[in-house]
Amino acid sequence: MINNLRIGLFTCAFTLTLSAFSQQAKQKLSVDEKIDALISKMTLEEKVGQLNINVGETIITGPTMYTSTSERFDDLIRDGKITGLFNVHGAAYTARLQKIAIEKSRLGIPLLFGADIIHGFKTVTPIPLGEAASWDMNAIEQSARMAAKESTSAGINFNFAPMVDISREPRWGRISEGSGEDSYLGSRIATARVKGFQGNNLADPTTFAACVKHFIGYGAAEAGRDYNTVDFSKRALYETYLPPFKAAIEAGAATVMPSFNELDGQPLTGNKHLLTDLLRNELKFNGMIVSDYGAIGEMINHGTAANGKEAAQLSLEAGTDMDMMSYLYLNEVPNLVRAGKLDVKYVDAAVRRVLKLKFDLGLFDNPYLYSDVNREKKEIRSAENLAVARDMAKRSIVLLKNEGKLLPLKKNYKKIAVIGPLADNKEDMNGSWSFFGETQHPVSIVEGIKSKVEKGTEVLYHTGCNLYDNNTDKFAEAVTTANNADVVIMVVGESAVMNGEGASRSDINLPGVQQQLVEIIAKTGKPVVVVLINGRPLTLEWIDQHIPSIVESWTLGSEAGHAVADVLFGDYNPSGKLPVTFPRSVGQIPIYYNHKNTGRPYGGNYSEPASQRVYSSKYRDIKNTPLYPFGYGLSYTSFEYSDMNLSVPKISANEKIDVTITVKNTGAYDGEEVVQLYIRDLVGSVTRPVKELKGFQKVFLKAGESKKIIFTLSANDLSFYRADMTWGTERGQFDVFVGGSSEQVLKKSFELTN
Ligand code: NOJ
Repeated sequence: MINNLRIGLFTCAFTLTLSAFSQQAKQKLSVDEKIDALISKMTLEEKVGQLNINVGETIITGPTMYTSTSERFDDLIRDGKITGLFNVHGAAYTARLQKIAIEKSRLGIPLLFGADIIHGFKTVTPIPLGEAASWDMNAIEQSARMAAKESTSAGINFNFAPMVDISREPRWGRISEGSGEDSYLGSRIATARVKGFQGNNLADPTTFAACVKHFIGYGAAEAGRDYNTVDFSKRALYETYLPPFKAAIEAGAATVMPSFNELDGQPLTGNKHLLTDLLRNELKFNGMIVSDYGAIGEMINHGTAANGKEAAQLSLEAGTDMDMMSYLYLNEVPNLVRAGKLDVKYVDAAVRRVLKLKFDLGLFDNPYLYSDVNREKKEIRSAENLAVARDMAKRSIVLLKNEGKLLPLKKNYKKIAVIGPLADNKEDMNGSWSFFGETQHPVSIVEGIKSKVEKGTEVLYHTGCNLYDNNTDKFAEAVTTANNADVVIMVVGESAVMNGEGASRSDINLPGVQQQLVEIIAKTGKPVVVVLINGRPLTLEWIDQHIPSIVESWTLGSEAGHAVADVLFGDYNPSGKLPVTFPRSVGQIPIYYNHKNTGRPYGGNYSEPASQRVYSSKYRDIKNTPLYPFGYGLSYTSFEYSDMNLSVPKISANEKIDVTITVKNTGAYDGEEVVQLYIRDLVGSVTRPVKELKGFQKVFLKAGESKKIIFTLSANDLSFYRADMTWGTERGQFDVFVGGSSEQVLKKSFELTN
């Protein structure tokens, strides 16, 4: 019945569209010709309507005061004033709106339905920083695929993800939304996510258009304060921040979103040099550019536009095709064109890109492609989707410490105490940027543990304290709970709103009195495991020094409790590695593994003569080293690296070199290891980082098993932006490092002869 209805609607829509372009349609025109034909029929108002996207009425993701009503949307759609809505969902709802566009608007142009599907839809997967910790490209692609399959069934055809901002700034709340600090890892993940979202064909109803964001430098906000000024060199732009965008574009990402920040004095939304010269001309991006939320209007606050008119003109001429929530294209562009101030060619070019996207998504063939009530029923939180979420979640967990092999825990303790404000919490497991996941669904850590242990095991629970305040009233009861148990699992960290957009922190410790709670429970002398729930690196020195086992579980989504229990009780051997450095203190920020050597490097060696020690790059009050380095993560088994070999001692730029290493699982458990390869170019026309990740392989080894791993390096891996900013190699000596983290590595050297 519903299918018939859909076919009926579709036929009707198509007939209307046909009636508008019957001549052209009959002639089997190419997409470009169809777009030309359509544009030639559009009024200026209809054109700017195609450039205007509106947030829906329930999930508002920006500073919007208006009180919209469905009726208002109905009118806007009928009048051709919006190209689509975002953060609305539901097959029936989106079909209803689409029907207005198709049947009631003059030209019957289908709507886009955008959304922030950042880490899952109703089935919530780990926050992207957590997924990045898996270093598992298949799992990440699969997670993105699942998110696309599920959310497209509810009408969504345009996803504002992946967010690929490199960040070395854990105070910045949106570090949770990206892949961490490294451009190489970030690029690999960007590719995996775009492939997962878009598949091989945008018109497949289970895929949607990806939007790579935020172009560019947003993760480098000064002092980690969201939306703050960004200022870095052209070299930093090309070396650090651009590569994941490049990778996503090469993978075919359909759209890009410019960032809120300025760079070199110009907000990105109106930055012609970066949007047109770099993104379109140099990177050959030919898709659609959608502004961030209200960002066109924000150029007035930035101080590069005096008013809305100037802001609209600046951003359209710079290359921003679609206005999200500033209404300035809608309200100002027709007047600007009529006054002869803005060339209509900018409007037409933007409209063309928007229509092309709609064609590519298959919406002109079937506007109801993505609004499938039957598919939606089957897809939402299906067993299959939850299995993907659980698999992704357990792979995202990083074991930070496991002294005395306290973990994995036995399933038959008499009593296990689970203590902490996040221990039996469901809603925060969805994490930041999860507006669609319902709060009642996620499996809490206590629930996961209860479902894992044997029948005779009693699981005691106490909240211990609140997340933020300084109230210690519940400490005494929590201590009693701990004293009654054989082992204590403490679940502490950040609530979902403590990271994500607008959630920067000046300190990145455990909020409130949570650390005090851990201290007082540790004093009981019971074995304590700390499970962390958080969206950014935290400063954990005390915990690292005093607690035997620490499990970094980020926020894991719908299946959080199950995934944590899988790891705590050894049904899954943790294999995650940190995609971002954990500092010892806020004062070390920015701290990242691929830093430069400086002219006065600190050897970290206090036996050096004082004169050398004093005048070296270091702190007087804290070590230079991080608490946990990039690439670090333990397993229940141990891996031994040996027999590192290079195929040749020297290569020329057109040759390749193989780096081989043997990795052996020397422990008692089967497990996976992320084997990482780094290089260092010792002398160059510009300084090079002390290490740069250039490859990794995630390998599974049975207990006792060895494998020979081969990496092949070629000229591209050894190239960089030279002093004159050309990309290429320079001859000289290279160090190669292979190991299980950026710090624990074996090293060899070779020479590049030309
Ligand atoms: C603002 C955020 O910066 C962006 O990432 C998001 O896609 C939009 N709001 C829409 O929600």
